[in-house]
Amino acid sequence: MNILITGATSGIGQQLVTDYAVAGHQIWACGRNQQQLDIMASNNVTTLCFDVSNAAQCRELLTGLPVLDLVILSAGVCEYIDDAQQFDLELVQRVFAVNFFGMLNCAQPLLPQMQAGSKLVFIDSMSRLLPFSRAQAYGASKAAIHYFASSLATDLTPRGINVVTVSPGFVKTPMTDANDFAMPTRISVAEASQAIQKQLAVGKQSIYFPRLFGWLLRLLHLLPDAIQRRIADKLKN
Ligand SMILES: NC(=O)c1ccc[n+]([C@@H]2O[C@H](COP(=O)([O-])OP(=O)(O)OC[C@H]3O[C@@H](n4cnc5c(N)ncnc54)[C@H](OP(=O)(O)O)[C@@H]3O)[C@@H](O)[C@H]2O)c1
Repeated sequence: MNILITGATSGIGQQLVTDYAVAGHQIWACGRNQQQLDIMASNNVTTLCFDVSNAAQCRELLTGLPVLDLVILSAGVCEYIDDAQQFDLELVQRVFAVNFFGMLNCAQPLLPQMQAGSKLVFIDSMSRLLPFSRAQAYGASKAAIHYFASSLATDLTPRGINVVTVSPGFVKTPMTDANDFAMPTRISVAEASQAIQKQLAVGKQSIYFPRLFGWLLRLLHLLPDAIQRRIADKLKN
């Protein structure tokens, strides 16, 4: 397969590049960290260095590639809001610039290069399922991209392009290493990559892992808003 992966220089994206490359696929690995990209480059790994928040750069570098069978948009950032009463608007804009608009900046030039049978994968997060403390920017950006992707799926299914959402729980990466709170059921990047590959291979349209944690959060998400808020309040540090 021809596979393009953003966020390829670290964490989940990097593990996916390694695993798909070992399996012999042709990979386009995207990130900002040129040094890391140079280490990853090989016969079947071509690297592309750009900032996903720069729409012009995305258009320039992502146009004219061969037909892609699989695109995985993993590039993302997490920043928490410490003072909810005087929240930092620039922080919210920074997070949306990568987690929401960054994904669209990549999807927009890539979609015309995809054909029936291709898969376009958006990595959101289970954090979108409950109103977690301090996660206003991160959770909202992930809820927004999940909605956009699900709605896109409705209009692209007739053309045979499969839009897939992936909602991970906690995965051990530099992103979660920065967290200062308990992370139940945190799994390794190897496990996360296996879960994504397996579920993509069997045609899943929305992927959750770890499985039990995914079921639990989806059940909580079904509760009335007032109860969800009470639960989020209890989970506060
Ligand atoms: N880890 C978790 O527990 C978890 C849970 C749920 C969802 N997720 C989501 O999974 C995805 C991957 O997360 P991760 O844990 O693997 O994070 P990570 O290890 O911090 O990696 C983030 C990746 O995103 C890239 N990136 C960030 N900003 C970018 C920008 N402006 N332009 C281009 N690339 C940019 C980074 O590239 P450079 O370093 O080269 O800039 C890096 O490759 C994210 O979307 C995250 O929100 C993670």
